[in-house]
Amino acid sequence: MRYITIALAKGRLAMKTMELLEMVGISCDEIKDKSSRKLIFVNEELKLKFFLAKASDVPTYVEYGAADIGFVGKDTILEEGRKMYEVLDLGLGKCRMCVAGPESARKLLQHGELIRVATKFPNIAKDYFYNKKHQTVEIIKLNGSIELAPIVGLSEVIVDIVETGSTLKENGLVILEDICNISARMVVNEVSMKMEHERISKIIKDLQKHLNTNNK
Ligand code: PRP
Repeated sequence: MRYITIALAKGRLAMKTMELLEMVGISCDEIKDKSSRKLIFVNEELKLKFFLAKASDVPTYVEYGAADIGFVGKDTILEEGRKMYEVLDLGLGKCRMCVAGPESARKLLQHGELIRVATKFPNIAKDYFYNKKHQTVEIIKLNGSIELAPIVGLSEVIVDIVETGSTLKENGLVILEDICNISARMVVNEVSMKMEHERISKIIKDLQKHLNTNNK
């Protein structure tokens, strides 16, 4: 039996995903050791390999088949636009992708003015403004602390993730428009889905069953 390789997005989501996998009998104690610098973890009994990668790289590993399965946020899936199957919504890490800014920017959005949009998600922002709203905007790519942009005058609005809303609130910003809901998803390489159909389908079914019973 060959190994099935699972890529997890590093950080909070990885640990939550591992907890969920444990509930369906898929465990890997080594991965929980935060002091370890190991990159690959193995469950010999189930013939599974796990690795942690930067979230934005998970879809790349899965598309190329270096990982058969990936667990990653919908934000990253949309932004990266890789070819793979999205098979399950884990309901973890729920948040929203929004257009936000100062209240005063609302009218700029309504009048379709040429505004600057700062974001860590340029593809999501482009798709939203160009394809859905048909509004021409200038997209400015940032790598973090996006809320700073409208405060210091880099942009009029931002496209960013809102979870509790406290970052916006504490910085005098508000949600101006909703783009989509975000949560962690299970993704599968297209070839692996055929070659390892039985084993991968079982993981999907077990997770689905667990999620259904717990969401009732
Ligand atoms: C995310 C997001 C917001 C914040 C939203 O940032 O970009 O800044 O969380 O959460 P809240 O609504 O609960 O306040 P993250 O912590 O990933 O950091 P970064 O964007 O600065 O990299």
